[in-house]
Amino acid sequence: MRSFVLRQGRMSPAQRRALAELLPRFGIPFAPTPIDFEREFGRRAPRVLEIGFGMGETTAAIARARPADDFLGVEVHSPGVGSLLKRVAELGLANVRVIQHDVVEVVAAMVPPASLAGVHVFFPDPWPKKRHRKRRLLTSGFVHELALRLAAGGCLHVATDWEEYAQEILATLAAEPLLENLASDFAPRPDYRPLTKFEARGLKLGHGVRDIVFRRRRGVVGTPAA
Ligand SMILES: C[S@@+](CC[C@H](N)C(=O)[O-])C[C@H]1O[C@@H](n2cnc3c(N)ncnc32)[C@H](O)[C@@H]1O
Repeated sequence: MRSFVLRQGRMSPAQRRALAELLPRFGIPFAPTPIDFEREFGRRAPRVLEIGFGMGETTAAIARARPADDFLGVEVHSPGVGSLLKRVAELGLANVRVIQHDVVEVVAAMVPPASLAGVHVFFPDPWPKKRHRKRRLLTSGFVHELALRLAAGGCLHVATDWEEYAQEILATLAAEPLLENLASDFAPRPDYRPLTKFEARGLKLGHGVRDIVFRRRRGVVGTPAA
């Protein structure tokens, strides 16, 4: 059961062009082999995985504000991938790479253990209906896999405007022994996270926005799920 339904939707000519011309430059093809981050980014720097970047506004804004860090964005939706690639080229960002594929498979096959300084999951699909809950991305199994990919001290940062999903994520992360909460429950919004389109929409609908930030514990060794 995947966490997304692929509706490719309409692509603008600019997004289509960006996808064709820039994916070979900034994209990493999905492959069942670990990524050599230093080769891909051409340097050794802290790396952040962003899951489901949508149209990439946040990814580009954060990458621009943090040039000393590298960002790997994973998204399945072609218009969004085209849109982020276009921003990366326009802003001349050297610290962004993109994989267009299901992130669950990307994490399992391509991201080495303890290789990430951070994971960002901003406004994951909430799948609010009860019968859709099994589609939710942040299951305990996937959270464990993400925790294994974080280096000690690295943070998993989730933001959502769906209160019930926020409570579920908080409980799932709290139950993961490799992670510790940096706050007593929800975290204050870290200043590096800009306002997204989804967030603005949520706020308009009267939804509160929750940030959840957990850190990979030091000195706790985990085992990958079978
Ligand atoms: C609600 S949107 C939020 C987009 C963006 N993070 C923002 O805040 O504007 C969630 C995104 O996650 C992507 N997504 C969901 N499941 C995914 C998966 N398993 N692998 C990659 N992307 C996924 C969807 O395609 C969608 O673009």
